[in-house]
Amino acid sequence: MAGTPDLACLAGRRVVLGVSGGIAAYKAVEVCRRLVDAGAFVSPVLTQDALRFVGEVTFSALASEPARTSLFGGSDPIPHTRLGQAADLIVIAPCTAKTLGKYAAGISDDLLSATLLATRAPVLIAPAMHTEMWEHPAVQENLQTLRRRGVHVVDPESGRLAGGDSGEGRLASPEAIVAAAAGVLAGSLGELAGVRVLVTAGGTREPIDPVRFVGNRSSGKMGHALADVAAARGAAVTLVTTTGLPAAAGVEIVPVATAEEMADAVFSRYPEADVVVMAAAVADFRPKAVAPEKLKKQAGVPEVVLEPTPDILAGLGERKTHQVLVGFAAETEHVVEHARAKVEAKNLDLIVANDVSAPDQGFEVDTNRGILIESSGFVGETPLVSKVELAGLVLDRITGMLAPERARREEQQ
Ligand code: C5P
Repeated sequence: MAGTPDLACLAGRRVVLGVSGGIAAYKAVEVCRRLVDAGAFVSPVLTQDALRFVGEVTFSALASEPARTSLFGGSDPIPHTRLGQAADLIVIAPCTAKTLGKYAAGISDDLLSATLLATRAPVLIAPAMHTEMWEHPAVQENLQTLRRRGVHVVDPESGRLAGGDSGEGRLASPEAIVAAAAGVLAGSLGELAGVRVLVTAGGTREPIDPVRFVGNRSSGKMGHALADVAAARGAAVTLVTTTGLPAAAGVEIVPVATAEEMADAVFSRYPEADVVVMAAAVADFRPKAVAPEKLKKQAGVPEVVLEPTPDILAGLGERKTHQVLVGFAAETEHVVEHARAKVEAKNLDLIVANDVSAPDQGFEVDTNRGILIESSGFVGETPLVSKVELAGLVLDRITGMLAPERARREEQQ
């Protein structure tokens, strides 16, 4: 992990500065000025509550473009998507309990909350509120949800609060917030900073002829969620995917179609990877011969002879040097037993097993429930959660496994 990040990486980057309504909003003026001084292109977005504490004109005068305060009424009919899509980073300072709660719940009822849902850029929040609110379980749970999704947090400080109170909840200093913003952009912030993560996603397609293939029902959503959350936590991510799904900013995409192509893409990147997560549903069998021309109906029912594909994960297990190796197992019966056998057989550190016979988990849907089985013997079951949250839980376990290796490397430096 780096020390003080160089602010130079803010130069030329588009930063949406969200300001929500707390007394600390006055400090956001200084955050705005420092971001602009560092060369960032700053677009301020103020909530209606923020306007009770600070003026729109103040931000418009300091920032790179006029401050916006509403989804409606401006010259741009869809400002949230434009701001969200163009942003390199979104910073919310101060982030009130209300804004934090809306973001965690996915509520978009104003420009700032809608922009947060319309972006793939990293997000940094600087919470500020009274101590009682900060310590409330609802706020802490929302914060945990956001952290799990990869949102970066500049924790509040202890000190004087509004109304003469004192305690934890005071907005971090503008200097600390801008340094954290630079850290996010430099990739030196986040618990996976400096870690190279290779993820596979989607189902492979094994051609029968130029138009037909043997495939499976994997959508790629789980693998893409893993890549996005790992990137949000600061990892350098390569995503080998069979799908056209989008990925978070900064994720390197390697498109592949067949098991063979996936194997080539993964094996060539394996030595440099610290973590490999094989979330893809790789075909176990492929047609032995691919017809060069489209098979004609008139020629009768073709006999398609299958042969096994290379087991990529097993190959990675054999060649493992330092990597944390994670597999997925779609099962329909004896889930734990079968998955545990795969940990052993493929030399894995962790396997995430799903019972794909349940309707609300596994293929295509947005939710999943995982049984996590580790080589150490640890077994844990997650509740039914979104694939993004399951990705966060899996990455929590991976981060724990990386800790000793990272400590060793840091000691060597
Ligand atoms: O043995 P099984 O196919 O159930 O193991 C599933 C795990 O192995 C998944 O992580 C999948 O990505 C990986 N796999 C592979 N190559 C194959 C088949 C599965 O890497 N040919």
